[in-house]
Amino acid sequence: MKKMTIKAFAATAMLMLAPVAGFASGGGVHLDHVKIDMGDKASLQRGFKLFANYCLSCHAASYARYNRTASDLGISEILLKENLIFTGAKVHSPMHVAMPADGAKDWFGKTPPDLSVIARSRGTDWVYTYLRSFYLDPKKATGTNNTVFKDVGMPHVLWELQGWQEAEHDEHGEVTHLKLVEPGSMQPAEYDAAVRDLVNFLAYLGEPAQLERSRLGPWVLLFLLLFSFVAYLLKKEYWKDVH
Ligand code: HEC
Repeated sequence: MKKMTIKAFAATAMLMLAPVAGFASGGGVHLDHVKIDMGDKASLQRGFKLFANYCLSCHAASYARYNRTASDLGISEILLKENLIFTGAKVHSPMHVAMPADGAKDWFGKTPPDLSVIARSRGTDWVYTYLRSFYLDPKKATGTNNTVFKDVGMPHVLWELQGWQEAEHDEHGEVTHLKLVEPGSMQPAEYDAAVRDLVNFLAYLGEPAQLERSRLGPWVLLFLLLFSFVAYLLKKEYWKDVH
């Protein structure tokens, strides 16, 4: 009886997890792996710059404030104001979009979602692959499609950097390969590195406390060490008279 219960429990758990696993893997599409390193401040800064320049016009990151993000990433307030805020927002404002949400819906058919936690909900590999997988598709209103997100409403906003890709199909019409047909301002490896910076930044946005945790970590350990030492001295002091 007990065994059955455990089996039933395992089966239920598997069933509950199955859709999550399917979703995370992007529905069978191959995802390229990206190495995230939130300790790499230079990469986070480059990612922030790309995000402010190419994404914030449509997507908000309203859980994040400009000045908190800048100070986490070691960016001065002057640099922040001059280079990263385009919406006329104040330094302490959350990152909202200039465009009204219903306007975006009219233009793209979908409201661009808030990207504060996108790296956590979709996974970093998914976002990394997605941003490198736009290809020309004349049947679409945006002129492009995406292998990871079929019929996506978002245009290929990084085309200046990546250039344009065309898809090669197999006999069933499935995309087998993407080929660069018109280069952008970046070499393919450079573009991959830029997207990695951007995804690194999005991962940070999803968990800004991560940086704070790694900064605090050594101090907490030091405190514990000192505390153990004091406790040890105290123990010796107490037991001295007992022996
Ligand atoms: C011109 C407006 C526009 C810009 C600029 C833009 N996006 Fe989008 N994005 C959209 C729209 C619209 C959607 C919703 C697409 C859909 O659901 O079909 C979207 C969807 C997405 C998604 C998928 C969200 C999901 O449903 O899981 C991600 C990830 C994303 N965008 C990232 C970015 C990043 C990163 C940038 C900057 C490099 C960016 N976008 C710039 C309009 C934009």
